Amino acid sequence: MAVKTIEELCGGVLERRAEAAAGGGEKAVAKHKAKGRLTARERIAQLMDEGSFVELDEFIEHRCTNFGMEKKKYLGDGVVTGYGTVNGRIVYVFSQDFTVLGGSLGEMHAQKICKVMDLALRNGCPIVGINDSGGARIQEAVDALNGYGEIFYRNTLSSGVIPQMSVILGPTAGGAVYSPALTDYIFMVDKISVMHITGPAVIKAVTGEDVTSEELGGATAHNTKSGNAHFFAKTEQECFEQVRSVLSYLPSNNMDDPVFVETSDPIDRADVSLREIVPTNPNRGYDVHKVIQAIVDDGKFLEVQSMWAKNIIIGYARFGGQSVGIVANQAGVMAGCLDIDCSDKASRFIRHCDAFNIPIVTLVDVPGYLPGKTQEWNGIIRHGAKLLYAYSEATVPLITVVLRKAYGGAYLGMCSKSLGADCVLAWPQAQIAVMGAEGAANIIFRKEIEAAEDQQAMRAQKISEYEDAFATPYQAASHGMVDKVILPEETRCEVIKALAAHKTKRQALPRKKHGVIPH
Ligand code: HXC
Repeated sequence: MAVKTIEELCGGVLERRAEAAAGGGEKAVAKHKAKGRLTARERIAQLMDEGSFVELDEFIEHRCTNFGMEKKKYLGDGVVTGYGTVNGRIVYVFSQDFTVLGGSLGEMHAQKICKVMDLALRNGCPIVGINDSGGARIQEAVDALNGYGEIFYRNTLSSGVIPQMSVILGPTAGGAVYSPALTDYIFMVDKISVMHITGPAVIKAVTGEDVTSEELGGATAHNTKSGNAHFFAKTEQECFEQVRSVLSYLPSNNMDDPVFVETSDPIDRADVSLREIVPTNPNRGYDVHKVIQAIVDDGKFLEVQSMWAKNIIIGYARFGGQSVGIVANQAGVMAGCLDIDCSDKASRFIRHCDAFNIPIVTLVDVPGYLPGKTQEWNGIIRHGAKLLYAYSEATVPLITVVLRKAYGGAYLGMCSKSLGADCVLAWPQAQIAVMGAEGAANIIFRKEIEAAEDQQAMRAQKISEYEDAFATPYQAASHGMVDKVILPEETRCEVIKALAAHKTKRQALPRKKHGVIPH
């Protein structure tokens, strides 16, 4: 046997690397790119810091021999996996290659994904999954299904331990959508991403409904209707910028704190425009984004689920360099009422922040839970309860600012003192009461109003009496449920001070396996 030279052996490595990098071959790559999509490796390059990606398992092949599969082998088996850095920190990644057997998931393809999931969990690093796949590899039958099971199991074990991001950049069908659904966030790109359990053909056959794939499960559908997606981008490039940006607010794992980002924005910056943004008339709407932008570092706010359940706003910002999660009622949409969708949206975000040691700043202006048959029959009781549950079990610093209305159960639901708020601040126009003055006066002064000669004048007088007594922050402040009544322009400085004071907060919950959250 001729002994090979080192040059020949090294050449063999390079040849194999080139073969792996070619994916499904020139024709398949050209077809893929003609659809306006990046390749699996180009996507990783968009995500990672330049030159930082280290590929693993690039020579893996499937072991299937069904239906002539032994002739359809590709180095890497349709998924590129490895690690690199994002904003200088290690992040694990897998990126499915649609040019190889439609990115379909078989035994070895799944094994590669599971390996990076295990490494990410063991090393306490985030993982980003880039999904572009026809789903379970049909030829591999139960081995493919088993592969999905292995992934779901790991998604669940990693939940709340390391950040998990799912980027959908192609078709994701059947049970394949459940791995993304088990992760922290789903990112979708307009006209490129699709997710559904059953596609248009099955729907037509079973229910007779006509719907296109895009209408059913495109980025718009999941960002505006189902609430399954958290971020919408116009291009793949924009999508990866979003992923990088989200990761910048998060720690690498649940034992770390988020990264501190130096800011030149003065801690004591007093923005007097805040006096005008929130009208003192409780019946007038406004955009709470303006309040957020006026108080956070450099006006920078990264909104999550900005297109769904817009009556509540959630997202990340920084105060004095420290990452926080913001939950704010949006008085400009449905008067900021709490309903089913916004309770789901906010409670999940609160649990995410709590899992990853991110303090929560809650901005309150809420008239109550949305009344109506639809809400009641669809379970506003159990959905609304999630908000109470999420705040009550959260042990991160909780800072609440009551901007205006805080009525009834919704006052409690928006992180009241009794639910665990560490610091409650209230603006001068705050009204912390069981309900609004008009409704309250109509109930408790009904007899006096009915007996009066001029009922309208009597009603106005009673409303005014109630307003003076209860539609203020002072009763709550006098009972210790508000720690401090502040001027609107003092908000930034007071929130930063409160966050600093609670930085060392340590709170232990009663020992239990886990709670039973209402669903
Ligand atoms: C094996 C597959 C495949 C699959 C696609 N391919 N999906 N191979 N298993 N699941 C192959 C095709 O045969 C084709 O191979 C190549 O990938 C590209 O596919 P095209 O159909 O040419 O591409 P396109 O027209 O863009 O359509 C993409 C698609 C379609 C919408 C994804 O391929 C499709 O509907 N695939 C099947 C989807 C599906 O039903 N999957 C199973 C879901 S159930 P060639 O050699 O011709 O290039 C599931 C269960 C998971 O996933 C359960 C977990 C609990």
